[in-house]
Amino acid sequence: MRAVQIDRFGGPEVMTVNADAAVPEPEAGEVLIRVLAAGTNPLDYKIRDGSSGVAKKLKPEDFPVTLGREACGIVEALGPGVTEFEVGETVFGMPALTHRSGCYAEYAALPVDCLARVPEGGDPIVFGGTGLVLSTAITAAIDQGKVQAGEKVLVHGGTGGVGQLVIQLCKRVGAEVWAVASTRNQDRLAELGAHPIDYRTQDFTEVSPKMDLIIDGNYFGTFEPSLDHLVPGGRIVVLPSLADLTPAKERGIEAHIPVFPPMPRRLEEYAPAIASGDIQVEIAQVLPFEEAAEAHRVLETGHSRGKIILVP
Ligand SMILES: NC(=O)c1ccc[n+]([C@@H]2O[C@H](COP(=O)([O-])OP(=O)(O)OC[C@H]3O[C@@H](n4cnc5c(N)ncnc54)[C@H](OP(=O)(O)O)[C@@H]3O)[C@@H](O)[C@H]2O)c1
Repeated sequence: MRAVQIDRFGGPEVMTVNADAAVPEPEAGEVLIRVLAAGTNPLDYKIRDGSSGVAKKLKPEDFPVTLGREACGIVEALGPGVTEFEVGETVFGMPALTHRSGCYAEYAALPVDCLARVPEGGDPIVFGGTGLVLSTAITAAIDQGKVQAGEKVLVHGGTGGVGQLVIQLCKRVGAEVWAVASTRNQDRLAELGAHPIDYRTQDFTEVSPKMDLIIDGNYFGTFEPSLDHLVPGGRIVVLPSLADLTPAKERGIEAHIPVFPPMPRRLEEYAPAIASGDIQVEIAQVLPFEEAAEAHRVLETGHSRGKIILVP
């Protein structure tokens, strides 16, 4: 099969399409899926360049590594003992970060406990880019952020893959949301139902009230001013995994970084709303595997909008 792999850490150019990659064997509790669409995420380039915590766990014998931590595909074969899915069903999800089988590939062997069904009529391209960002948004907004109706919430990075979902989840529970992005993305923030803030021309601390909850998808330059922009008892959730929460903890401010197990039943709960478009997963670009390096270059700017999807 064809798979986008790295044989060492490095820049986007270390990714190559291996046309002779082995089709993975589904082990007990896994299914083999034929990948229809694989989502790209900042995590992928942080694994590719060796900077993420997950990359540091990779051993020389793990290479070549197939990248990709979320996908949508059709079940092609069942591993031993699998009764949860049938061949031919369309599924989506996010394998654990250390799972051996990557999603930038024509086939992936994924554990059933990371997969949910795509509802009838759901767009595989959209669902290919949903597993990781929706799991993150649920964890950040609902589980760690504990967002409540009537609360004031601020989202830094509101037009990113995760940020757009965070805004929508917070609006659905009845919170009032302010969201920050650059000038060109102000209309999108408003479409999602947030009060838009332009970090290029405005200071969020001056143009919005103090918040009950801040979800910070940016961290660099936004985290410390955000701590001063919380009401007493306010909470902050910071998305980048390597963020240092010490300044919050020292001040007694509840602060989290999302860490979560696969959550297929909760993905399934939101899937009808994703399929109908009630919850939007914005697709910015759909690129073939051969252009994975272009997807990473855009992600690495820190200014990609919505999701970039790779297709076989
Ligand atoms: N802990 C976890 O489990 C977890 C899971 C998923 C993601 N993450 C991390 O969370 C971060 C966001 O992920 P993502 O997929 O949403 O990223 P993304 O799609 O690359 O989005 C980044 C967004 O940030 C905005 N932005 C850039 N500079 C900003 C600033 N100074 N103030 C406010 N917004 C700014 C950009 O908007 P403009 O283009 O308008 O600047 C862009 O829309 C990444 O670091 C990712 O690695 C962590």
